Amino acid sequence: MATRILSGVQPSGQLHLGNYFGAIKQHIELQDLPGAEPYYFIADFHAMTTVQDAAKLREFVTGVALDYLALGLDSKKAVFFRQSDVPEVAELAWMLSCVTGMGLLERAHSYKDKTAKGLKPSVGLFYYPVLMAADILIYKSKLVPVGQDQVQHVEMTQDMAQYFNNIYGCEVLVRPEAKLNETAKVPGVDGEKMSKSYGNTIDLQMEGAELKKRVMSVKTDSTPVDQPKNPETCNVFALYKLVASPEETKELEAQYRAGGLGYGDAKKKLLAKIDEFFEPYRETRKDLAKNLDHVEQVLRDGAARARAVARQTLDECKKASGLS
Ligand code: ADP
Ligand code: TRP
Repeated sequence: MATRILSGVQPSGQLHLGNYFGAIKQHIELQDLPGAEPYYFIADFHAMTTVQDAAKLREFVTGVALDYLALGLDSKKAVFFRQSDVPEVAELAWMLSCVTGMGLLERAHSYKDKTAKGLKPSVGLFYYPVLMAADILIYKSKLVPVGQDQVQHVEMTQDMAQYFNNIYGCEVLVRPEAKLNETAKVPGVDGEKMSKSYGNTIDLQMEGAELKKRVMSVKTDSTPVDQPKNPETCNVFALYKLVASPEETKELEAQYRAGGLGYGDAKKKLLAKIDEFFEPYRETRKDLAKNLDHVEQVLRDGAARARAVARQTLDECKKASGLS
């Protein structure tokens, strides 16, 4: 039987190296897993918890669609769509909210982290994990590839599925499992986790002088040029490893350990590799951006396929709960 894989990405800004190596790369690779049925979507409902400017939200949605397609998402292999094009998910979220205790949501780390960072504690932000559970359950997803920060949400989804099935004495909802993305933490230019909210990102679309400035600003220690350097603790090296081949990585590691290579030169090597790695993507993205109608069509076709599945599950849930 096919393994349904599902993941969503929020259109809340420009995508960066952390998003690519931490999430998108795996999503795209999973397209070719034998027996996989991948569903990927742009979580625009979720982004409304933070992006409250209509033009910006539209721009970010288009941006994420262009990014995924330019990075290799194949709409013949994966169902790719916009979350809000499948409004059934909001109906299922309501049903789940009625079988879920407040205590479960009150334990959510992401809500606590986001409000601690100053985000307005809206009902939507609190309800976020219920909508995410509906996203996962409505497609009867088995595997959910996410970063560490989302694992708790998948565990909450398992609980919500069980509450629903127990209360209504049915087996409609399928228990999903989180699949941890391989690259745990890509450092930003300041050495902290690369994140839009820390302003320390290297964005996938950056090029030329802007990219150079970012790369040259990666934080290093003050080991003098002639001294040996420790690749394991160096942010430049951590980023280089992601974009260079294993041989090139070994070569740079040897140069670090031998001494004689300055951080300025290491950063230039990093810059060249980032350019080489992402140049084809940037070109493809520019071409795709000339034909946004095509991009829109891909999302609509994806939504039609996703919606057929979502409707089926929703009908089963309605029957089980007495709504029909
Ligand atoms: P941001 O922190 O920039 O707001 P998101 O929370 O939107 O990023 O993350 C989207 C996806 O990218 C998630 O699956 C997350 O785990 C992954 N991701 C984001 N930043 C990094 C990083 N620095 N290292 C590894 N993965 C990351
Ligand atoms: N909350 C996820 C994030 O911020 C995005 C998301 C929404 C998601 N719905 C999902 C991820 C369902 C996986 C499955 O990264």
